[in-house]
Amino acid sequence: MNFASDNVTGAAPDILQAIVDANEGNLPSYGADPLTARMQQRLCQMFERDVAVFPVATGTAANALALSVLSPPWGTVFCHADSHIYTDECGAPELMTQGARLQPLPGPHGKLTPEVLAAALAEAPVGFVHGMQPAALSLTQATEAGTCYTVAEVAALTALARQHRLRVHMDGARFANAIAHLGCSPADVTWKAGVDILSLGATKNGALCAEAVIFFDPALAVDFGYRRKRAAQLFSKMRFVSAQFDAWLTDDRWLTLARHANAMAARLAAGLQALPGLRLRDPVEANELFLRMPDQVTDGLLAAGFQFYRWEGDVVRMVTAWNTSASDVDHLIQAAAELTKIT
Ligand SMILES: Cc1ncc(COP(=O)(O)O)c(C=O)c1O
Repeated sequence: MNFASDNVTGAAPDILQAIVDANEGNLPSYGADPLTARMQQRLCQMFERDVAVFPVATGTAANALALSVLSPPWGTVFCHADSHIYTDECGAPELMTQGARLQPLPGPHGKLTPEVLAAALAEAPVGFVHGMQPAALSLTQATEAGTCYTVAEVAALTALARQHRLRVHMDGARFANAIAHLGCSPADVTWKAGVDILSLGATKNGALCAEAVIFFDPALAVDFGYRRKRAAQLFSKMRFVSAQFDAWLTDDRWLTLARHANAMAARLAAGLQALPGLRLRDPVEANELFLRMPDQVTDGLLAAGFQFYRWEGDVVRMVTAWNTSASDVDHLIQAAAELTKIT
């Protein structure tokens, strides 16, 4: 049973069907098709303003390309020490920015705080020709610890960023899960809270392969078409990616799928934290759980075929997804309960 990742799931049936439907006939290539136009419209509605949308293949591509707009090669990008851009992108942001430096910062539960950012900025060698120059802040929403920045937290960080002339990127690989938790509008926690560019991911939340770079200030996007092409991220048969976003956005499917994943995580957390010796490391706000678990439980669950990751020390990571079933969750809780009884 999969609790390893929201990437090992298939695509949601309605999204897969949208790809099949998009297969009909010949359509203009490279994004000049009607499905791409409709996706753009839907994203403008979702964010309550004109946005410039650039689909790409992966979250890494979205992040690295977004940062290449926000930072010069001599810039510093401040991010959380656990951020995907810092730990899991094999230097793609450094490559695409042609040399910008990611500066990892600490913060509880996967979140940066204004205090930590202010301390880093105070040390930055602004105007010193030998030093890297502060250029951008990158926040992950939902975070790599399965928590979510509130609107006020995002706004406080971006206000500080602005004071120091930093641009702001948001890695939204699990943006839908964050909105499902926060209950705010997508606009509230992005451009209205000071975010310049969002990497919007649908892949983990029911799509087959659909990620996009969303610009809230279209003026920033003027050259982006060339950047994307140069990075080999311009799909010729764009309609198949657009069809996924289109179906994802129809009837708030993105929220329904994310709400389900989050609800399964909450159910799992409630069941597991009630067991002796098991403790959540972080609040469970989206679709990931990090919890401290005795070895006998971890070993027993893995041996029984439950899939999840050992993280660090006695911490394990479990992830739920749009297709996680309540009965799988209950099975895992039941099995863990049995294992805690073994002496
Ligand atoms: C926080 C975060 N950002 C971005 C990504 C995108 O990764 P990929 O390049 O594998 O699509 C992931 C995937 O694991 C992620 O967890």
